[in-house]
Amino acid sequence: MRILGIETSCDETGVALYDSERGLLAHALHSQVELHAEYGGVVPELASRDHIQNTLPLIRRVLSAAACRTDEIDGVAYAAGPGLIGALLVGAAIARSLAYAWNVPAVGVHHMEAHLLAPLLEPDSPEFPFVALLVSGGHTLLVQVLGVGQYQVLGESLDDAAGEAFDKVAKLLGLGYPGGPALERLAVAGEAGRFHFPRPMTDRPGLDFSFSGLKTHALTTLRSAGDDTQTRADLAHAFQEAVVDTLALKCERALRETGLSRLVVSGGVSANQRLRQRFSQLGKKLHASVFYPRLEFCTDNGAMIAYAGYARLAAGRHAQSDLAFGVHARWPLDAI
Ligand code: KG4
Ligand code: ZN
Repeated sequence: MRILGIETSCDETGVALYDSERGLLAHALHSQVELHAEYGGVVPELASRDHIQNTLPLIRRVLSAAACRTDEIDGVAYAAGPGLIGALLVGAAIARSLAYAWNVPAVGVHHMEAHLLAPLLEPDSPEFPFVALLVSGGHTLLVQVLGVGQYQVLGESLDDAAGEAFDKVAKLLGLGYPGGPALERLAVAGEAGRFHFPRPMTDRPGLDFSFSGLKTHALTTLRSAGDDTQTRADLAHAFQEAVVDTLALKCERALRETGLSRLVVSGGVSANQRLRQRFSQLGKKLHASVFYPRLEFCTDNGAMIAYAGYARLAAGRHAQSDLAFGVHARWPLDAI
């Protein structure tokens, strides 16, 4: 089975072709980072317009790189939410039009499900069941995964997502957008132990998260400590430690509570090297295996959408048959 995947939920246009026998055949990404950088964050209308301009050329590029004819495609998957509504509509309209023209199914994929399944594209991929920590710019979720489409949300952020906290603190520190990678680079020069940030919600039972307090803590610390280059680096270091440590503590709890020994960490923040270091310590401590997508598939991409579309079709968990299409700005993962 061969599936074309289209991702347009936020600020990356991603397209990929997945083949169930041969794996990923080709993928291409157009990042809008430069477009939004001068505004310090994503401007939804600009994102939609840019997706309109780039999606079809990327599809052509991917099909040509894979030397794939359109009559060899068995389905078209697209991110149907959660995300920016205008941006989602671009991908949905293109995907469903192509699927109609090619007379194959169109599969609306949940963007977070696609992040969750992304490590299954790798050679050393996890078997079900596993616990998944999804850490992106819009969501932080801990999920018990029994199989494709069988998701029980164990915990989630009650306010800012982990990536959002990185972006907001990066902004405070005068770093560009997106802030996560820039903050990680700055933290390398930071001195450990000068500042200490709280580990929110770890002093009580439960698996939910709250990251908005860390942003306030960063602001008040910056005001009282004086604003020089070393202070900023020390602050970035302490903030990153707090986020990574909090995520690891909650994952340890989730693994113990579920009795599972496989952990998937995915979404943009899973590209963070300090996070990966901390999670490999956790894996050793609990005799658990930790799985990530390859670095370029941690952040948004078309490959994870193509794979999730394939997984849905293969599992027979695809119901939409009429021509109408819906996209969802908000869409709980356990409601799919
Ligand atoms: O999954 P993703 O590409 O998009 C969403 O679905 O939201 O995640 C983007 C988020 C941004 O908040 C970005 O700052 C963060 O992931 N991010 C990182 C790193 N790379 C991306 N955060 C921390 N360290 C990184 N290396
Ligand atoms: Zn994402």
